[in-house]
Amino acid sequence: MLTRRVVLMATAALAVGLSAAYAQGLPPLEKKDTYKVGFAQTESNNPWRIAQTESMKAEAEKLGYQLVYTDAAGSAAKQVADVNSMIAQGVDIIFLAPREEKPLIPAVMAAKKAGIPVILLDRNVDQSLAKAGEDYVTFIGSDFIDEGKRIAEFLMKEKPEGAKIIQLEGTTGSSPANDRKKGFDDTIASNPAFQVVASQSGDFARDKGRQVAEALLQAHPDADVIYAHNDEMAMGAIAALEAAGKTPGKDVMVLSIDGGKEAVQAVVDGKIAAVVECNPRFGPKAFETMQRYVNGETIEPWVKNIDAFYDKSNAAEEVANAY
Ligand code: AHR
Repeated sequence: MLTRRVVLMATAALAVGLSAAYAQGLPPLEKKDTYKVGFAQTESNNPWRIAQTESMKAEAEKLGYQLVYTDAAGSAAKQVADVNSMIAQGVDIIFLAPREEKPLIPAVMAAKKAGIPVILLDRNVDQSLAKAGEDYVTFIGSDFIDEGKRIAEFLMKEKPEGAKIIQLEGTTGSSPANDRKKGFDDTIASNPAFQVVASQSGDFARDKGRQVAEALLQAHPDADVIYAHNDEMAMGAIAALEAAGKTPGKDVMVLSIDGGKEAVQAVVDGKIAAVVECNPRFGPKAFETMQRYVNGETIEPWVKNIDAFYDKSNAAEEVANAY
């Protein structure tokens, strides 16, 4: 059933002249002096998430908007409840960083039904179940498949003889874990000398990454590469290697994604060979995209972030700029 808010918003859109996006069923967002904006974060257990939250809060404050912030503490169920609570509080728009691809679909659909536009930040939802331009405005974020591909290409160039690889995957069912694995696995598949001997989730967390790396190193003592889907797990893997009496960067090559200060410093120190950046500073782009939407522009389905690459050639000069 159509809610009163949806009817009012649709009428307002008709009055200002429908943009193509609104015409496809997305809730419009009217021009106002200030907005009440929801930001549903997945968790706050690592520097990447903290940098993203700080960037969102700083930009909202700069614009004088009220930010309704929630932290799902690593639970997709809580994140759905957080979005429902934002809907009940009558926010104007919701920025959602969906923890996993499928479980957050009901949250996206509930916001749409309530006439509240959603912009996905950093992680995507299952594309067979919800679509940009129809169910949510757009996805702002990195190309995770390309991140995995770039790391694999670096590895194949640096170790042309081949490698036995342990892969530490991110949160199961999340778009970065799915795509970083796909980009990496598809790239090394072109050369049978590169073998993933074990691939397991460390949930994007340092201690879980350390524990998983410890167990997999015991099972595969001849592994000579660890590819971690994020810096936290890479730092955990370094701890596991050192505890096992191995020298990271010498006995085992460590590769990572994210580009936080600690990991870029580890590149300078020779413990990590390369890091593909995944930029967490979303604030300016998120609110600029919201403004474009307010102006009635049709937003492209994917607002892509461009990521840097750190290895020994540039890490020392870049470390000061890392988050
Ligand atoms: O979605 C981006 C990923 O999520 C980052 O790589 C990771 O550190 C974060 O938790």
